[in-house]
Amino acid sequence: MLRSLSVTTLAFLFVAASFATIGAMAGCSSSSSGGGACDTGGADGGTCNPPTSSNPTPAYTSCANLTSPTVSFTKDVMPTFNLSCGVSNACHQPHATPAVASLVLGCNGMGCPDGGVPAATVIQNIVGKSALENPGMDIVKAGDPANSYLMHKIDGDQCQYAAACQATHNPIFSEPPCGTQMPYNSGVIDPDTRDNIRRWIAQGAQNN
Ligand code: HEM
Repeated sequence: MLRSLSVTTLAFLFVAASFATIGAMAGCSSSSSGGGACDTGGADGGTCNPPTSSNPTPAYTSCANLTSPTVSFTKDVMPTFNLSCGVSNACHQPHATPAVASLVLGCNGMGCPDGGVPAATVIQNIVGKSALENPGMDIVKAGDPANSYLMHKIDGDQCQYAAACQATHNPIFSEPPCGTQMPYNSGVIDPDTRDNIRRWIAQGAQNN
């Protein structure tokens, strides 16, 4: 059958196939560093195995478009933080004693201020602030989700930084080094919601 096709048709098929491959590869590695298929990688609620282990956990791969839609911190991100991070005073609530990792992220339920924690307070706590577990990385680096520790904690691939976390490891605070996937002991946040936080960071982590 191939013999009957003209050289032009064969050339066209070859070019089309190459474009399809390049497009697919570009899509996968566009927004987070996993390099795997879309929405794969990370511990997915299980144990995150560091790079030195026999079965290392791959970095999470997101293929989300990070430029659109525009994400509002107050309307699109804070509801997730209030609901999933500020669930109890053993977590990231302002009146937790102390807030875990001194990191206030949100508040819902008893003793919480109306409307949860003000967005500006959370922004001050996370943007441009070094992570305690991995001080070489900011909790949120404006414009750079791949180098924002908070994204790795919710994607569940934080242990890829085990060596750096080990350097400052405080077992009272987090075991193993780099701790566990967030939210702690309460299921993995769905990929779309995580991509919304990723998009907010990529768009400059603004108080909008
Ligand atoms: C989506 C919601 C949440 C986010 C974004 C989040 C984020 C984080 C981050 C970025 C750290 C590391 C802080 C640092 O190194 O400076 C951390 C640590 C920690 N968080 Fe959360 N957290 C969330 C929910 C929770 C909840 C619900 C709890 C309590 C049940 C909790 C308990 C802890 C604990 C105990 C640590 C230190 C130990 C560890 O890392 O495993 N977090 N969290």
